[in-house]
Amino acid sequence: MTHTTAQPGRSSGAATARPTVTLTGVQPTGDLHLGNYIGAIRPLADLAADPAREVYVFVADLHALNSRPDPAVLRERSRRLVAALLACGLDRPNVHVYRQSRVPAVAGMAALLTNVTAKGLLNRAHAYKAAVAANLAAGRDPDHGVNMGLYSYPALMAADILALDADEVPVGPDQAQHLEIAVDLAQQFSRSYRPTVLREPRALLANATATLPGLDGRKMSKSYGNAIALMADPDAMRKQIRRIVTDSTPPAQPKDPVACTLVALLRAFADPGTVAAVEERYCTGGIGYGEVKAQLADAIDAHVAPIRNRYQRLLTDPAELDARLAQGAQRACQRADRTLARTMVAMGL
Ligand code: TRP
Repeated sequence: MTHTTAQPGRSSGAATARPTVTLTGVQPTGDLHLGNYIGAIRPLADLAADPAREVYVFVADLHALNSRPDPAVLRERSRRLVAALLACGLDRPNVHVYRQSRVPAVAGMAALLTNVTAKGLLNRAHAYKAAVAANLAAGRDPDHGVNMGLYSYPALMAADILALDADEVPVGPDQAQHLEIAVDLAQQFSRSYRPTVLREPRALLANATATLPGLDGRKMSKSYGNAIALMADPDAMRKQIRRIVTDSTPPAQPKDPVACTLVALLRAFADPGTVAAVEERYCTGGIGYGEVKAQLADAIDAHVAPIRNRYQRLLTDPAELDARLAQGAQRACQRADRTLARTMVAMGL
C-alpha cells in the first residue's frame, strides 16, 4: 500500500459493512507523466483493487477553467485523461469515472458552501497566496490576474468531496491543505446547521516514496520540464531515458545507489530481483550508467506497454468512452443529488 492513513477505515470491519467511498479528482492540465502514474494513479488503482471500496474518480474540468484553457484543448485533454485513467487499472466495476462538470449538484453544493466559507480561510490558501506574493514582488496589484475560480478553488474542491459523501480522499502532499479546508467546511456546516448532513472526509496522504525524480533528478513535474510522458511512444521514451542526468563516475568505480536517479526510477518499475542485482553492482563497481539506462528502459516499457495499448484502443473508440462517462456521471449524480437535497433542507431551502 502506498498510502498512509491516520485513522482506521470508518466502515471496514463493521458488521453492516457498507463500502468505503474513495474519491479523487485529477486536473486535465496535459498528458500524464510517469511521476503522476507512480505518485497518484497507480496507488489509486491499488486502492481500487479492493472490491470493498467504491471509487469515484473525476476529471476536474471545472477547476481547470481558472486558467482559461482553449475550449477545444480542454475538451481533448479531458478525453485523453479519461482514457488514460481507464487504461491505468481503473477500468473496474467498483470504479466510477466522470467529468466533474457533468454532476450539476457539485456546482450547487459549491454555491451553498460559500455561505459557510470564511473569506479569510481562502485568503490563506497556498495557490492564492502564491499568486499574491508574485504580484507584490512584481509591484502589481495583489489580486492582479486572480479570478474567483482560482480564489475559490478550495471551496469547489470541498464541494466535490462533500457532495459525493466521500470517506477518504487520496491526495499528494500539495493537496493536504485543500483537504483540511474541506474538513473545515464540513465542520463549519455541522456547527452552523446540524451534524450528520455532511460527512467529514479523511485524507489518505501519499507516501514520500511515491515521489519519482525526473530527468534532472528533481521531483518529476511538468513545470520543471523534466517529465517523461506516460503514453510516449517507446522510441521517444528510450531517447528521454538516455538523457537522464547522472554524474561522471566511470563504470568500473563503485557508486552510491541511494543517490542515483536511475536506481530510484528502477525501483518504481523493475522487479525487486533486478533492482537488488543492480544495487549490488553499484556498490562493488563494474556497471556503467548506459547499461542501467538500457535496463531501466526495458523495465518501464514492459510495465507501460500494456497500459499504452489499452489507452490507444480506448482513444479510437469515442462511443465507448462516452458510454463509460455517462455511466460514471449517472452514479455520481445519484449520490450528489441526495447530498445536495439533504443540505438544502438543512439550510431551510
Ligand atoms: N486539486 C486537485 C489537484 O490539483 C484536483 C482535485 C479537484 C481534487 N477536486 C478534487 C482532488 C477533490 C481530490 C478531491 O490535484
